[in-house]
Amino acid sequence: MILKMELGPSSYDIVVERGSLGKLKTYLELQRKVLVVTDDGIPEKYVKSVLSQCNDAVLLTFPHGDKSKSLTNYEKILSTLVDNSFSRSDVVIALGGGMVSDLAGFAASSYMRGMDFYIIPTTLLSQVDASIGGKVAVNFKGYKNLVGAFYQPKKVVIDLDTLKTLDERLFNEGLAEAIKVGTTNSLSLFELIEKSENIHEDIDKIVTMSLMIKKSIVEKDEKESWLRQTLNYGHTVGHAIESLSEGKLYHGECVSIGMLYLISDDSRDRLKKVLVKYNLPTIDQFASEELIQVITHDKKAKDETVTVCYVEEIGKNKLKRLSVSELKKLIEEYKKI
Ligand SMILES: NC(=O)c1ccc[n+]([C@@H]2O[C@H](COP(=O)([O-])OP(=O)(O)OC[C@H]3O[C@@H](n4cnc5c(N)ncnc54)[C@H](O)[C@@H]3O)[C@@H](O)[C@H]2O)c1
Repeated sequence: MILKMELGPSSYDIVVERGSLGKLKTYLELQRKVLVVTDDGIPEKYVKSVLSQCNDAVLLTFPHGDKSKSLTNYEKILSTLVDNSFSRSDVVIALGGGMVSDLAGFAASSYMRGMDFYIIPTTLLSQVDASIGGKVAVNFKGYKNLVGAFYQPKKVVIDLDTLKTLDERLFNEGLAEAIKVGTTNSLSLFELIEKSENIHEDIDKIVTMSLMIKKSIVEKDEKESWLRQTLNYGHTVGHAIESLSEGKLYHGECVSIGMLYLISDDSRDRLKKVLVKYNLPTIDQFASEELIQVITHDKKAKDETVTVCYVEEIGKNKLKRLSVSELKKLIEEYKKI
């Protein structure tokens, strides 16, 4: 299946096809210099497969984990591009999860004011979320995604067969982002995950539904001035947990906890059951003060208020502007339960 992200001159195809990793030339322009950026947790067979389909490739491998999403590594990518005489018409391929695509995409966005960029997402999280929509960034001074850009890839190739090598914890953290999309925007997606008796059999449908919903939101609001903020559901508190947990929790696990702070009591019980079903965490150990401190330094905080996405009823959402003290109260209320 090919989905088209319609963004005027920045439009691109999202290919969703099992086995597509082995036939990249069908979809990508590889007759040029290619910088493949990946991390050391990506199975070697995927890296070899990509390299074998390029004529002139350079490989750059970073240590796995979100700490690699740094300005230092951003600079390493730029140095590699310069040292190997890459031009604007050459291409960077991000092969891996959201860490790799955020980092490589940010470098591609700024090298010579922007060069071609493809994403081959290999985690469930990056297949349902991080690979589409063009948000690229690195972490800075302990804050998530503080330095970044909106920069759309030229193409995204999703091979669901790569999920076979993900361990259960990584699979489930990716599911958290799909649960987020369902909780905020689609009761039917939520119910598919809630009622699933074999999640691996349902995953193709879950990925496609999540992508279609995200695509329609990004098409209406590419630069996140209103509607797209609903996709930050769970992220306001989630990013603070992620920063404070220093790599112990995965991104999707932090989003999982973060969602439970901003939901009505009735819907919270239902959401919590689904998160527990997929072994996702539902509470953090940080004091509300600590969380607020990180949140108010977060780029999403404007003056004394924070815009959050709130769920009253599964499948529907509302953007709310809360004062910092109102947000703190909500955090404290959930922590008391
Ligand atoms: N740009 C966006 O719109 C967006 C959206 C959501 C999340 N993110 C970012 O994405 C990052 C999280 O992404 P992630 O959850 O994919 O984590 P990740 O990229 O850190 O990958 C997690 C782990 O999975 C391993 N891995 C990747 N593919 C594998 C495979 N097929 N088989 C076995 N192991 C594999 C990696 O080596 C790594 O150790 C965070 O930095 C988050 O901020 C960005």
